[in-house]
Amino acid sequence: LLYLLSFTGNYYQQGEIRKEELVQSCKVLGIPPSNVTVLDHRKLPDHPSTDWDVPLLAELILSHIKTYQINLVVTFDARGVSGHPNHRSVYAAVRSLHSERKVLEGCQFLILETVNVFRKYISILDAPLSCYKDQDVVFILTEKETELAKRAMWCHHSQLLWFRRLYVTFSRYMVINSLLFL
Ligand SMILES: *[C@@H]1O[C@H](CO)[C@@H](O)[C@H](O)[C@H]1NC(C)=O
Repeated sequence: LLYLLSFTGNYYQQGEIRKEELVQSCKVLGIPPSNVTVLDHRKLPDHPSTDWDVPLLAELILSHIKTYQINLVVTFDARGVSGHPNHRSVYAAVRSLHSERKVLEGCQFLILETVNVFRKYISILDAPLSCYKDQDVVFILTEKETELAKRAMWCHHSQLLWFRRLYVTFSRYMVINSLLFL
């Protein structure tokens, strides 16, 4: 069972549009709308220069884990893929839950490794590097799966500025993702 939890996405006041795009994108990936939660908390505004209230975030994530009896949480690492402070806050929240042992025994955390800018845009060429380094899990998508991932990305119309189109074409994360257990 898979559940997706997203915090806001209301930057540019496009919250509703982005939410709908996320739901469509998840559908492409086989995640039904009922398994997608978008939390728009007034104290957690989507903004690249706002640090979120980490204890509040942790509390919201914990309640989601409990509600759905989650045993594996997949999220950002400390560098948050793009370095976006909101992504980094999510990591900080999960990290605090983990270190305070607030979640049930048996709930594990996998964090997505952020790679440097050079590796970020070499797509499949990053495979040897990703496998060489000591990761707990490395996912390499097949061509067919990559096509599906792209179709899911194209659902995010409002966010597909020109540089994001380049991202979808060249990003390593569209093909390879390496993760570590906390
Ligand atoms: C979505 O949640 C429902 C209800 O818990 C579950 O039966 C279903 O398998 C989930 N879908 C996915 C793709 O995990």
